[in-house]
Amino acid sequence: MRKVNILEIIEKKRDKQELSKEEIEYFITGYTSGEIADYQASALIMAIYLNGMTKQETTNLTIAMAHSGEMLDLSVLNEVIVDKHSTGGVGDKVSLILLPLVASLGIPVAKMSGRGLGFTGGTVDKLESIPGYQTGINIHNFVENVEKVGISMISQTLNLAPADKKIYSLRDSISCVESIPLIASSIMSKKIASGAQKIVLDVTCGSGAFMHSQERAEELAKEMIEIGRLADKETVCVLTNMDEPLGYAVGNTLEVIEAIECLKGNMPEDVKEVVLELGAYMVKLAGKGNDIEANKLQLLENIQNGKGYQKFIQLVENQDGDSSYIKDTSRFEKAQYIEKIYSNQTGYIKRMDAKEIGKIVCDLGAGRIRKEDSIDNAVGIVLHKKVSNKVDKQEALATIYANSKEKLEEAKKRLLEVIQIDENVVSKPKMILEIMQ
Ligand code: URA
Repeated sequence: MRKVNILEIIEKKRDKQELSKEEIEYFITGYTSGEIADYQASALIMAIYLNGMTKQETTNLTIAMAHSGEMLDLSVLNEVIVDKHSTGGVGDKVSLILLPLVASLGIPVAKMSGRGLGFTGGTVDKLESIPGYQTGINIHNFVENVEKVGISMISQTLNLAPADKKIYSLRDSISCVESIPLIASSIMSKKIASGAQKIVLDVTCGSGAFMHSQERAEELAKEMIEIGRLADKETVCVLTNMDEPLGYAVGNTLEVIEAIECLKGNMPEDVKEVVLELGAYMVKLAGKGNDIEANKLQLLENIQNGKGYQKFIQLVENQDGDSSYIKDTSRFEKAQYIEKIYSNQTGYIKRMDAKEIGKIVCDLGAGRIRKEDSIDNAVGIVLHKKVSNKVDKQEALATIYANSKEKLEEAKKRLLEVIQIDENVVSKPKMILEIMQ
């Protein structure tokens, strides 16, 4: 058989032809080992982004990525392991709240998260804003933590789906994020490699998501459900609204503080709806309750009795994080400049474009331009209003946290332009758009 060659693979995809299983496997093996250079992988990823992939190619890509490293076997835990993942959003701190909450019901959680991608935030960056918290632990300790405290949340530093780790940060640095085959393979390869038997996916939809319309979100969901079926992993997709940021805080430390407040029972309505819906399906797939509404009540009870919050503290301590920051969030390092912006009219909040807000926060220092860039955890925005809220002239709309005067001024200007106010009453956006399974 003729030897496969990366130049021919790039050429084929550039010319809109279908790649074979062997060609996809050759690319994944070569890029993971370093034999294929970043610039060649960039060209191929851009060609996939522009020309798409057939269902067969996406499935082959997912399986090749899942097998690019170790495959974790969680059967030692003797329980059904249900994993959760989001397709990304702005202000999306759901995993920080939901996973300790689910674990507090006695359902084991073994979660491998990602870093910020494009204008969206990532759970790993948020966890790393807790001083001491170790996201990069080895597989043995990961499984041991789940056995010991019922939950572990880590980054992809383990040898699990290493191809995704490389492609994920490459996509982030070459503006190739919003692609159905690339998102589906990225998420499902991680889920397959990390040993979960069942999967609940938060498929976000709207300006602050990678899928802007419900139709595109449905297409992505269908693709992931199908990959789940082929891999024998039952997958449920909850389509959620991501037109405005979720909750009030956007920025790593600020979101951790908001998540802690949520676990203490002070949960914004939109966050609560998303957390409870996803959580109820996790409980169902774990075989701990078929009634979705009853499952939501179980979750709510563990917010009210503090068990979810206690589980979060246990998770942080068990991964060497300093829980004194969780118990007293005023200890977190603050940005140097903290200033409010005010409304120049009376009316109702009509639109707060999540993507633009995500970009403003990235430009304040929370996002990466190059994949090796470090980020500023203290910067961000705390909104004081949500879409549909009434606002008076001169009332505060948001607080900006910055570490440079110049960036602060720029953010103030941009944020005022992004928040649209109307004199007519605006209805509250629907958060849960659809359940697909
Ligand atoms: N989350 C992932 O893990 N991968 C993506 O491509 C998008 C969101």
